[in-house]
Amino acid sequence: MIIETERLILRPFLESDAEDVFEYLHQPLVNCFKCMKLDTIEDAKKEMKNRIGETEYYFAIVLKESEKVIGEIDAFPESGEPHQDENSVKDTFSPCWMLNQDYFGQGYAYEAARAFFDYLFKEKGARRIYAYTEDYNKSSQHLCEKLGMRQEGLFKEFISFVNNPDGTPRYENTYQYAILKKEWEMMSKE
Ligand SMILES: CC(C)(COP(=O)(O)OP(=O)(O)OC[C@H]1O[C@@H](n2cnc3c(N)ncnc32)[C@H](O)[C@@H]1OP(=O)(O)O)[C@@H](O)C(=O)NCCC(=O)NCCS
Repeated sequence: MIIETERLILRPFLESDAEDVFEYLHQPLVNCFKCMKLDTIEDAKKEMKNRIGETEYYFAIVLKESEKVIGEIDAFPESGEPHQDENSVKDTFSPCWMLNQDYFGQGYAYEAARAFFDYLFKEKGARRIYAYTEDYNKSSQHLCEKLGMRQEGLFKEFISFVNNPDGTPRYENTYQYAILKKEWEMMSKE
């Protein structure tokens, strides 16, 4: 699947994307992506191999003018039901988004996320899209709000991605944002 916007192409990853991805994943900027850290370009090449075949829900964000991969966006179908089984409808998605910091503040994340949400709602059966973002991550919160997502709650000491210097888990406060398909459609009409 390929999604096109005014300035961007969202497309599946290619093996040749390793260098561009290494640029933004050798030092992930936020704790929630620390587990994705790539130490070497060889690790990046391996990671690209793992991503081959992800053609529906995991996209490289590519600048049309230079064909450079400047970030990524993904979300996979989940059951929205608390008591899920194999028959549960997977109509809920939770996106991850990340840009190379050299490309922050130019509206690329919004442009990519808006097109991705449109794709999930119109073509992939999404009923609800929700996002978790830590309380200090103002740019991600701003992006959620720009996309029309409602702030649904703040979960205190919800999750830990890194340890404190004494080895104990450092818990983070996490906001949840969400938008329903009907809200997205209403917004698109305005
Ligand atoms: C979260 C993240 C993707 C947001 O990126 P961003 O560059 O701040 O977001 P945008 O691309 O939407 O840019 C927003 C700003 O670009 C500016 N901008 C410049 N040119 C623009 C244009 N042509 N169109 C729109 N905005 C433009 C505006 O000032 C806009 O801010 P505004 O909404 O107040 O007007 C980025 O900070 C990131 O990758 N962070 C690290 C990873 C991360 O935290 N992920 C989320 C984990 S929960």
